Amino acid sequence: MNVLLEAIELTKQYKGLKAVSNYSVKISPGEIRGLIGPNGAGKTTTFNLLTSMVKSTSGNIYFEGKNITGIRADQIAHLGICRTFQNIRLFKNLTVLENVLIAAQIKKKYNFMSVLLSSPSFLREEKHLVDQSLELLETMGLIHAKDMKARNLPYGQQRKLEIARALAVRPKILLLDEPAAGMNPSESTELMGLIRYLRDKFDLTIFLIEHDMKFVMNLCEKIQVLLCYHRGIKDDYFSNAIANYFKQDLFDYSGNGFNTKAYHKGKTIIM
Ligand SMILES: Nc1ncnc2c1ncn2[C@@H]1O[C@H](COP(=O)(O)OP(=O)(O)O)[C@@H](O)[C@H]1O
Ligand SMILES: [Mg+2]
Repeated sequence: MNVLLEAIELTKQYKGLKAVSNYSVKISPGEIRGLIGPNGAGKTTTFNLLTSMVKSTSGNIYFEGKNITGIRADQIAHLGICRTFQNIRLFKNLTVLENVLIAAQIKKKYNFMSVLLSSPSFLREEKHLVDQSLELLETMGLIHAKDMKARNLPYGQQRKLEIARALAVRPKILLLDEPAAGMNPSESTELMGLIRYLRDKFDLTIFLIEHDMKFVMNLCEKIQVLLCYHRGIKDDYFSNAIANYFKQDLFDYSGNGFNTKAYHKGKTIIM
C-alpha cells in the first residue's frame, strides 16, 4: 500500500493522563479519512502530535516514508502537512485576504533585503501571492468578503477561511479539526462538496475529525474510531453514535475493542 502519512504507536502523556495511547494510522495519498470518537478521546491531541504542535511521549511519525518525529511545527508545514483548528484561530482584526496572504508568505522565495528595497523580484512575487490568495478565496466562495475583517465573517465562513489559509501553504495533506462544527445543515452539505472538490483540484489527502456522523459517513471512505478503553471510561460511543446513525442497520462487525474492522456499504470502520 502506498502510504503518505503514518503514525506508529503514538502516546501523549500529560502528568497522570494519557491523552493518546498507542495510536497508529496509515493514510494513503488522495484518501479522505475520518477520525471520530467521544469528547476527550484524544482526537485533537492526535492532530497536535501529527503536526508537532505537541511533542509525543513515545511513538513515531512518517511522512512520505521519512521519519519526521520531533521536527518543528514550521518544518511540518513546509513538508506539506497543514491543519485547521477546532477553536478557530484567525487574525480577527486583519482582513480575509490578509489572513490568507500571511499564510502564503510561508512559501515566499524573496529575502529580507529584497523586501526592503522593493526589488522587482519581490514585487513580482508579491503580486503572484496576492493573485494566488484571491484565487483561493474565489475557490472557497469568500471572494465577496476579501476586504472584510475576519471577525465580522459569519461563523461558517470563518471555518472556510481557516481552510483557505491552510491551503495557501500548498499542503499535501490537510488535517481538519471539526470543520463543520457550528455550521447549519446547508452549510455543512456545501462543505462536503467543497472538500471533495479541493481534494481533486489540489491533489490533496484529507484527514478530518468530525462529530456529525452524516458528514463523516458521506465523505470518508475509511473512518477510524478513537476509543478510551485505556482510561477506563465506559465506552458506549460505538453503540450510541454509530449504531444510532445506522438505526441498528449495522455492518458486518465482529470483535470488541482495538484493531477491529467493520464494513458497511463500502465503508471501512477501524477501531
Ligand atoms: N495540554 C494539555 N494538558 C493536559 N491535558 C490535556 C491537554 N490537552 C488535552 N488534554 C486532555 O487530553 C484528553 C484528550 O483531549 P482532546 O485531544 O482535546 O480530545 P478530543 O479532541 O477527542 O475531544 C482530554 O482529557 C483533555 O483534557
Ligand atoms: Mg477536539
